[in-house]
Amino acid sequence: MTSLWLADRIATSPASDTAEDLPGFADVVVAGAGITGLMTAVLLARAGREVLVLEARTVGACATGNTTAKISLLQATQLSTISTKQGKQLAAAYLEGNRAGQDWMLSFCASTGVAVQREDAYSFAQSEGGVAAARAEYEACRAVDLPVTWEAQAEVPFPYHGGVRLAEQAQFDPMPFLDALRAELLDSGGQLVEHARVQRVSSGRDGLRISVDGARVHADVKATQLVLATGIPVLDRGGYFARVKPRRSYCMAFEVPGEITRPMMISTDSPTRSLRYAPVTGAERLLVGGAGHTVGRAKHPGVALAELESWTIRHFPGATRTHLWSAQDYAPIDELPYVGPILPDSDTIYVATGFNKWGMTNGAAAALALSGRMLGERPKWDRAFASWSTRELRGLSTAMAANLEVGFNLAKGWIAPTAHIGSHGLGHDAPGVVSGPPWRLQAQCRVDGVEHRVSPVCPHLGGIVNWNDADKAWECPLHGSRFAPDGTLLEGPATRGLTRGG
Ligand SMILES: Cc1cc2nc3c(=O)[nH]c(=O)nc-3n(C[C@H](O)[C@H](O)[C@H](O)COP(=O)(O)OP(=O)(O)OC[C@H]3O[C@@H](n4cnc5c(N)ncnc54)[C@H](O)[C@@H]3O)c2cc1C
Ligand code: FES
Repeated sequence: MTSLWLADRIATSPASDTAEDLPGFADVVVAGAGITGLMTAVLLARAGREVLVLEARTVGACATGNTTAKISLLQATQLSTISTKQGKQLAAAYLEGNRAGQDWMLSFCASTGVAVQREDAYSFAQSEGGVAAARAEYEACRAVDLPVTWEAQAEVPFPYHGGVRLAEQAQFDPMPFLDALRAELLDSGGQLVEHARVQRVSSGRDGLRISVDGARVHADVKATQLVLATGIPVLDRGGYFARVKPRRSYCMAFEVPGEITRPMMISTDSPTRSLRYAPVTGAERLLVGGAGHTVGRAKHPGVALAELESWTIRHFPGATRTHLWSAQDYAPIDELPYVGPILPDSDTIYVATGFNKWGMTNGAAAALALSGRMLGERPKWDRAFASWSTRELRGLSTAMAANLEVGFNLAKGWIAPTAHIGSHGLGHDAPGVVSGPPWRLQAQCRVDGVEHRVSPVCPHLGGIVNWNDADKAWECPLHGSRFAPDGTLLEGPATRGLTRGG
């Protein structure tokens, strides 16, 4: 499952990845080399700070290298949802932050030669049922002076019942952008170490002690400040795992005979259809995204994926799939991202999460907000990106519902497998199964002919993992940690893999 962006790519500037390269001290450590971490690191390095980026896997390995990469201020139904829950002023501040992020990205791409395509963006109704949401988005955009138009018709080969259009937005391949950030970071004296996972952090009188583990790196680094740009924060302080919902979705690239729709489109009604084109060497590709679900809670994600593929082939006859991939992002309980100190009184550890699948402009905004705060120049709009604020009370009912679901999934995970006691059937179509009594649970799967046995107990807070048949991965239904078939940690708030052998 490799994305169009990560397949066959040639990095323009290789990172260092050996233990010898890990310094004993850095002024600022940034954990995570996606858009948020790398851009924060560059902004801090520009201001003369000594920055070390630690990346658990490789640059862009999680959401940023697997995104659809629309750089748009029209974001499905974000503005209407935020306005309804948080009011017009916070929606306007959110928009201003996203505009600042978009402007920064476009000017950085222009100055570094990263290719960007300027296209219109649409939030459209694919059925009568989606028209009210599209209309609401139109009104919310107009209310904060975003110059959208209502388009009753559009020249597209799939059902369209009206939608909102915002002219001149942008899209790109995110990996050359990350490469250019990395190149600037290294040029300005910053350091980047891949395969280096931040596992624990302790605070003392002489600053932070950060324990780092990885394929070749096992060491402690001391630092004055730490930025957790890890998708969901990997430290439990602040309880962010209970304030966001992990949502996984899927993308496919297709070769299509004939015309590919030019604007970037996303539906306001379910099931989600997100489309754009991608100019790659050879034939252009159509990208289609959707089939989303809460991580670890979909019985057979492959079914929704097959439906999305057949929808595409029905409306783009002759389309042939060339790439299939998936990624996850985090939906905040109160609709606005969490960017700032990990705890209200902390000025040493910072977080950035909750971009709700709009982290191109939000990740860039987060980097501007974090670096601004750390350098003493906070942008005014960052009140819409607060990691702690009373606005969260408006998300309280959502938080309670989300955490009731977590409790339910925790109990279900421990009790339900008893039904499988003694049953180790590994069918070809559903290779992963959790079985055994609660005191001896085991997870088994066979992938590419290799059988794996691991403990299904998530090392984060004890959830019981489920098998994702589309991704061939173990997923925790509580807070979204994911593991490879052999238990290796892929992503999420966990910092260790599943115990081998079960
Ligand atoms: C399917 C999909 C499509 C999307 N499409 C769009 C779109 O079209 N437009 C848009 O604006 N947004 C989109 N998004 C959202 C956007 O891609 C993300 O919000 C954004 O990429 C998040 O960037 P990030 O840097 O915060 O996180 P990531 O890119 O996930 O980076 C986090 C990094 O931290 C590393 N890490 C994790 N734990 C540790 C640790 N303990 N130590 C060190 N490193 C660690 C990870 O390996 C990873 O590289 C989409 C998201 C998804 C899932
Ligand atoms: S991710 Fe929290 S318990 Fe698994």
